[in-house]
Order: sequence, then structure tokens, then C-alpha cells
Amino acid sequence: MTGCSKSMKAIVTLGNGRFDLKDIPVPPISAGDILVKVAAVSQNPVDWKTALLHQKSDNVLGCDFAGTVAEVGPEVPSTMRRVGERVAGFIQGGVAPNGAFAEYVVIQAVLAIPLPDSVSFEEGAQLGIACFTACLTLYQYLKFPTPDCPAKVPTPVLIWSGTSATGQYAIQFAKLSGLRVFTTASPKHFEFVKALGADEVFDYADSRTPRKIFASTSGTLRHAMDCISQDRTPNQVSTSLSKEGGTIATLLPYTSRTKGVKTVSILAYTIFGKDISFPYTQPAVAEDHASGIQYAKLISKLLSEGKLKPIPIKMFPNGLQGVQDGFEYMRAGEVHAEKITYRVSDTPGVDP
Ligand SMILES: NC(=O)c1ccc[n+]([C@@H]2O[C@H](COP(=O)([O-])OP(=O)(O)OC[C@H]3O[C@@H](n4cnc5c(N)ncnc54)[C@H](OP(=O)(O)O)[C@@H]3O)[C@@H](O)[C@H]2O)c1
Repeated sequence: MTGCSKSMKAIVTLGNGRFDLKDIPVPPISAGDILVKVAAVSQNPVDWKTALLHQKSDNVLGCDFAGTVAEVGPEVPSTMRRVGERVAGFIQGGVAPNGAFAEYVVIQAVLAIPLPDSVSFEEGAQLGIACFTACLTLYQYLKFPTPDCPAKVPTPVLIWSGTSATGQYAIQFAKLSGLRVFTTASPKHFEFVKALGADEVFDYADSRTPRKIFASTSGTLRHAMDCISQDRTPNQVSTSLSKEGGTIATLLPYTSRTKGVKTVSILAYTIFGKDISFPYTQPAVAEDHASGIQYAKLISKLLSEGKLKPIPIKMFPNGLQGVQDGFEYMRAGEVHAEKITYRVSDTPGVDP
């Protein structure tokens, strides 16, 4: 099959903040890309934010997906990707006619995660933005060692919001890297985040938590990942750090004015190695692209070894037709330690 010659169902933007399930052409692939027949997709906060803020028509929403390779670009080595292979990954949805909430999606072959047979498509769909963001933050920006060569000394790291999608992966990667993991959650999820690898967990709603983390780390905490990065959390994370300060990686843009505290804003899309124009302009970062290629292999390896747990699935009915309901559920703050997931074959009019 060649892109363009066939049509598919997809969640397409209308240019006014709204979207609809439409029939559009299958996107074409470039030489280094693969075309994936999408089986399952999951939803990120950025999906509804992009729909609302990037008000252009004819773009396809959705970033995270899992499915089967349907076509391979001419420059993709046969040893790398093959038709029929199971893969997962993410792209930047909502800014082009290529998005994950569709029957077919295009991704750079080097950034696709080979999915072990033990991992279902629904689980594989959880491995996109959140998983790559955790790796990019811990390894590229906080400079921690990777699980292949874990730390000899269990350096403390704070993952603020261990139940968020990014936090769940960050806890697991940090633990696999030999770090001592401090995190926050609501009390009903304390055991859940401990099972992921957290050494110590604190109630994020308790105003004493930053002081408790400071005490528990004996004032030695120098590294943190703020998986919420809004309202009170940047201050709470900053207060948890050592008196000399440290580095906080934030997932929304934020600059600390506290002496000794360095903030670095992470943007998962930098792993594509291309200039970015939304949500803000950012030139291509070649190192992040090179790292992203390594993360795809690392994620696949850890999955096949049974060392990485995908996020608990919250399956929504009606496939892609359910995206509006999923957006409302997420915007209402109903997502608790889970990931909204849609099976494409559940979409009305899509062949199973
Ligand atoms: N820059 C990037 O590349 C990038 C990448 C990924 C995500 N993000 C952004 O990062 C944010 C998180 O995304 P996500 O998908 O990881 O989150 P998510 O899974 O939607 O987060 C939901 C979880 O956050 C917890 N939570 C809410 N407020 C909290 C607080 N004040 N402290 C601690 N935990 C809190 C909730 O706990 P309860 O269960 O107790 O309600 C819930 O379990 C979003 O703003 C997203 O847009 C940015």
C-alpha cells in the first residue's frame, strides 16, 4: 500500500478548537519512515491542549500509539524494521495531517519501539510521550546513568507526582538506574508507587511534605523532576532541595528565581530532531534525537525483560469516536494513576 492512495478514519481538527471523526487520505511516508496500522492509542494532556490552542483545520490529533508496520520507507534497513512487526511510539499530534488518533500513522523508523509479544497493543500504546519524557529528563537533562550501567551510589532524586503518567515511568527508570527515589502521591496510591520502585512516598496535599523530604534526604537532594510543574508544585519541589539548591526538570515552562536552583524545561518533541513551532518555537536538538533512538531500544529491552510496567489502562468505549468523552474526563481531573486508551477497531465504521 502507498500512503495517499487509500483513505482512513481519523480524528481531524476543524480549525475552531473542535474535531470530528472523518475519512481522510492515509498519510504518505518519507524515505526513513514507517507507516503503522494503528491498533490502540492512549491520551495525553497535550492532546486536548493542542486541540484547544492550535486552531488549524485538517490536522489529526493524538500522539501515542501501538500497532503493526504496514509499509517501510526505502531508506529503512530491512534489519531495522519489517512489515508485520509490532511497534509502539509517539509523534506530535494535532499539528499536521499525521496523528495517532487514526487508522494509520507515520513515524521515523528509528524512533519506533519494537513491542515484545508479551506486551499487548493496549499496553504498548502507553509507552509514548510519558515514557520518552522520563528517559529524556533523567538521562539527557539530569545526566543520571542509564539502567545498563546503574549508579554505584544511590543518589536521591525527587519525582514529584509518582502517579502521573510521566512520574510512573520516571520512578521505574530512576530505580533501574540505581537511584534512591522520593516521590509524592495521594495516600491511596502510596503502595502503588512503592510497587513501581519508590523508596519513600509523601502526600502531595500535605503542606509539610517539602520539609519532610528535606529531612528524609538529610538536606542532600540536588535533583528533581516536577511532573506537574504548575500552581504550588515548583515551589514545593524547590523547598525540598538542599540548602545549596539543585536542578529541577519541569514539564511545563518554568524558571525558578531561587538562588542556586536551576530549572530546565523538558519538551518530549525534541527527540524528533526537527525544529518545533508548537507549543513554542524550539530549534532541532541533534543530541536529543540521538538519545531518543537509544531510548526506543532501551524501552523495548526492559519490556522484554519484564522490568518496565506500562501504566494501568482506562479503556474508553467506541474507539476513536470516544475521544471527546476522554478529553472531558481528563479535563475534569478524573485521571488517577491511569491512562485513557482507545482501541481503533472499536470505532464505528472501522473494520476489526
Ligand atoms: N514537556 C513535555 O514534553 C511533557 C511530556 C509529558 C507531559 N507533560 C505535561 O506534564 C503534565 C503531567 O502529564 P501526565 O500525563 O504525566 O499527567 P497525568 O497522568 O494526567 O497526571 C494525573 C496524576 O497527577 C496527580 N496529581 C495532580 N496534581 C498533583 C499534585 N499537585 N502533586 C502531585 N501529583 C498530582 C493526580 O493524582 P491523584 O490521583 O491524587 O488525583 C493523578 O494521578 C501535564 O501538564 C502534561 O501536559 C509535558
